[in-house]
Amino acid sequence: MSSLDNPRDRAIQAMFDRIAGRYDILNRIISLRLDNTWRSKAIKEVLRSGDQVILDLGAGTGDLTFTAAKKIKGGARIVGLDFSLEMLKLARSKQNSAKNGEKTCFIQGSATFSPFKDCAFDGVMTAFVLRNVSDLSLFFAHAFRVLKNGGRFVSLDMFPLRKTWFAAFYSLYFYRLVPWIGGLLAHDRVAYRYLAESVESFHPPERVAELLEQAGFKQVTIRKFLNGAVCMHVAEKTNP
Ligand SMILES: C[S@@+](CC[C@H](N)C(=O)[O-])C[C@H]1O[C@@H](n2cnc3c(N)ncnc32)[C@H](O)[C@@H]1O
Repeated sequence: MSSLDNPRDRAIQAMFDRIAGRYDILNRIISLRLDNTWRSKAIKEVLRSGDQVILDLGAGTGDLTFTAAKKIKGGARIVGLDFSLEMLKLARSKQNSAKNGEKTCFIQGSATFSPFKDCAFDGVMTAFVLRNVSDLSLFFAHAFRVLKNGGRFVSLDMFPLRKTWFAAFYSLYFYRLVPWIGGLLAHDRVAYRYLAESVESFHPPERVAELLEQAGFKQVTIRKFLNGAVCMHVAEKTNP
């Protein structure tokens, strides 16, 4: 089944099309601007020197793509893939003003069913996408397939917290205040309630690491931020 034959994928695509216009501003407010710091850390893990080509899966409005583009030199390129046309339109509208924007390109397509050749990319990165993906094993198998031997995969995402005082405080913010802010600013409380629910029902980071290993990745590591509310997975495709 291709990704967009799947009703859950179609619903996620429609939701991002709907909230695209308010996505950037809400992201900054909700993450208290910490998302930029995490993105920079993720990019450091995947970028190497030289004329590399990096794929950003679920690029959205291009936050990770453009942050990475700022750091590239020479003939390096960043390709952003997303299935939401409205998110991509916003990404494309930023290309002219972004540093090295001409070294980025955006393609509409599914992250589990993309048209790229095997071993086409030197690195694959993704941010805040995994929770939305209907078939995570397929997503990782695809990332593995398009990555060159020796290349790195990096993912940032939000994860459910174990019950601690921090979790209680964080839950209040994330499950009560965030849907309210989303309702107010994006006029879409349902989408921002989904955001909270998708985190609550997501796998623990250790399970995501297992799925990466099952897809063939090696040297899988997990780095936790905010007591594990946000985790970065780094994995390698090593030569057989
Ligand atoms: C929360 S946004 C993150 C956007 C961007 N990576 C960022 O860091 O701001 C998730 C994005 O993933 C995209 N997405 C989710 N599932 C996808 C899939 N199976 N194929 C392609 N894009 C997908 C959505 O359309 C949305 O733009």
